[in-house]
Amino acid sequence: IFLFFFLSFHTGIFAYLNYNVPRTRHEILCMLVKGLQRLEYRGYDSAGVAVDGGNDKNWEKNFKTIKLIKKRGKVKALEEEINKQVDLDMEVKFECHVGIAHTRWATHGEPNFVNSHPHRSEKKNEFLVIHNGIITNYKDLKKFLESKGYEFESETDTEVIPKLIKYMYDNRESDEISFSTLVERVTQQLEGAFALVFKSVHFPGQAVGTRSVAIIEHTKRVIFLEDDDVAAVVDGRLSIHRITRSASDNPSRAIQTLQMELQEIMKGNFSSFMQKEISEQPESVVNTMRGRVNFDDYTVVLGGLMDHIKEIRRCRRLIVIGCGTSYHAGIATRQVLEELSELPVMVELSSDFLDRNTPVFRDDVCFFISQSGETADTLLALRYCKGRGALTVGITNTVGSSISRETDCGVHINAGPEIGVASTKAYTSQFVAMVMFSLMMCDDRLSMQQRRREIIDGLRVLQDQIRQVLELNNQIQVLAQELVRERSLLVMGRGYNYATCLEGALKIKEITYMHSEGILAGELKHGPLALVDKMMPVIMIVVKDPTYVKCQNALQQVVARQGHPILICERNDEESTKHAYRTIEIPHTQDCLQGILSVIPLQLLSLHLAILRGYDVDFPRNLAKSVTVE
Ligand code: G6P
Repeated sequence: IFLFFFLSFHTGIFAYLNYNVPRTRHEILCMLVKGLQRLEYRGYDSAGVAVDGGNDKNWEKNFKTIKLIKKRGKVKALEEEINKQVDLDMEVKFECHVGIAHTRWATHGEPNFVNSHPHRSEKKNEFLVIHNGIITNYKDLKKFLESKGYEFESETDTEVIPKLIKYMYDNRESDEISFSTLVERVTQQLEGAFALVFKSVHFPGQAVGTRSVAIIEHTKRVIFLEDDDVAAVVDGRLSIHRITRSASDNPSRAIQTLQMELQEIMKGNFSSFMQKEISEQPESVVNTMRGRVNFDDYTVVLGGLMDHIKEIRRCRRLIVIGCGTSYHAGIATRQVLEELSELPVMVELSSDFLDRNTPVFRDDVCFFISQSGETADTLLALRYCKGRGALTVGITNTVGSSISRETDCGVHINAGPEIGVASTKAYTSQFVAMVMFSLMMCDDRLSMQQRRREIIDGLRVLQDQIRQVLELNNQIQVLAQELVRERSLLVMGRGYNYATCLEGALKIKEITYMHSEGILAGELKHGPLALVDKMMPVIMIVVKDPTYVKCQNALQQVVARQGHPILICERNDEESTKHAYRTIEIPHTQDCLQGILSVIPLQLLSLHLAILRGYDVDFPRNLAKSVTVE
C-alpha cells in the first residue's frame, strides 16, 4: 500500500507504507525523498523524514527505534544528509514499514533543525508526527503538558501533538488501546486547521492520518478524507472512520483531567473569557496572517482562495453577508475592498438580505462572514446564493463548520476558540482577513503597489500597536467608573470608523444592557443631534483620515450643544483634544486599518462597564454565542 497525503497549505506531508512487499531502507528513503520532491513546488524552507532505526537483519527487531533526519533548506540538502547517515545500514530489508516525510514552511519559529518536522514526543522518538496547518489552541495545550512534566524543544505549534499523544498513551486505561483511538483522542483536543500523520514505536507498521481540512490521495485509487475522518493502516489494511469532535459520552480519566485543567488554563488569570480574548488580539491577528502575508516581498496568499481567485477577479459584484459583529467586519472593510478590487461591494445583514429576496447572479461572488460558521440566517443566505449560481466564499473561525463546508472556498481566520458571547478577537481577525483578501485582489495592479505596500507595512506593526492600545486598560476602567450610572451612550464616527461605532455600541448593548447607538457622524444633523445635551455622554472617533475635517465639524456641533465628548483620537491631535471632555489616544496606522485599533477601547469599555454593573460578561442575558435558529 502506498499512501500519499496531499495538502492545500504551504507545506507538504507524505507517508509511504509497504506491507508484505519487502523494501530496503535505501528504497524506502528514496521513495520518501521522491514524495517530497513532488511537493517542492509549494514552497518550503526545511524538510525531514522518519524511518525505523536499527540494523538487525531480522527487520522486526528494528521496530524499537525510530530514526529522525531533518534539515533546513531544500529536499536536496535533506537527501545529502540522509546519505551521510553512517549508522544506518541502507541494505536492511523491511517486509513491512512506515516512513513519514514533510516539507515545512516556517510559521511558528524560524526554519531550523528543531522546528522542522517530524516532531517527536521525547528524545526516544516514541511518537512522531508530521503536520500541515495550524493549531490555534497550542499554547493552552502546551501549558497543560508542561504542568505534567513534558518538555518542549521547539517553538512550533505542532510539538503539542506528539506530546499529547504520548500523554494519552501514558495514561491509557488498557494495553489493548489502538493507535487510531489515541489519535482520535488527540484530535478531539485540537483547534485549528490541520492534517496529520502519526508513527510510533508502540505501533510498528501502522500509520494513522487525520485531517480537519486537507485531502488524502492514494496513488491509483484516490481517497478523499472528510473532516474528522481518521484513516488507519493496520496489518496492511486501510480503515477509515468518522469521529465526532465533541467529547465522547464516557471520556477516559486522562481526557477528563485534560479537559478540566485545560478550561482553567484557558481562562488563566483573567476574570472572563471576553477579557482574555480582548487581550489575545496582538497574537490572534498575527495568527490570521501567519503563512499568508509575506512582509519581505509584499505578497499575500490565501491558500483557500487560490483555485478561485481568477474567477473572483472576473466577477461583476461582491456581496458580503453576515450577522452581528460579523456584519460589522464587512462594513469595516467595505471601503478598502471597493478601493482595491475596483468592484461594487454590497454589505448585507443576512436576515434582511433574505427578506428582500435580493437579486443574485451567476457572476456575483458572495462572502459569508461568520465566527461560528453555524449562524442560521447566514447559512440560509449562503444556500440562497448558491442556488442562484453565485460563487460562495466563507470567512469563518470554525474549521469544519457548516459554512466552511458548504461554501465553494474560503479563509479560516485562525483566531483561536472564542468563548465569550460578545465577539472581540474574531472581529479583528475577520477584519484582517478581509483586508488580506482586498490586497490579494490587486496584487497585479501596478498603480496600486505603493498603497499595497503601505497597508502591508501597517499590518506588520499591527501587533505592537494593539499592545499599545491594550495598555490603556486602566484609563478605560476609570472612564467606565464615570459612565457606569448612565442610561445611554452614543458612539459617533464616519468613514472607515463608522463600523467601529456600530460594533462599539453593539458591545455596550450586549453585555452592559445600557442603551447604545452607533451613529454615522454624517447623519448627525439629520436626527441624532436632537439627542445631544449636557446630560448625554457621546463617544466620538476622530482620526486623521480623509474624514478628519468633517469629524471636527461634528465635534463642534456636539460641543456647541453642551455635550461632553469622550474622544477616541490619534496621539498628538491637539486640535481635537482641546474640545474633549476625556480623550483616549491610540496610535496612528493606515486609514483602512485604523478601525482595528479604534474598536479595542470600546471592547474594553463595555467589559469594564459590565463588570462594574455586576453582570456575567461571558454569558449575557437573552443572547447565545451561536444562533442556529432563524
Ligand atoms: C450572535 C452572537 C454575536 C455574533 C453573531 C453572528 O448574535 O452573539 O456575537 O456576532 O451571532 O455570529 P457568527 O458566528 O455568524 O459570527
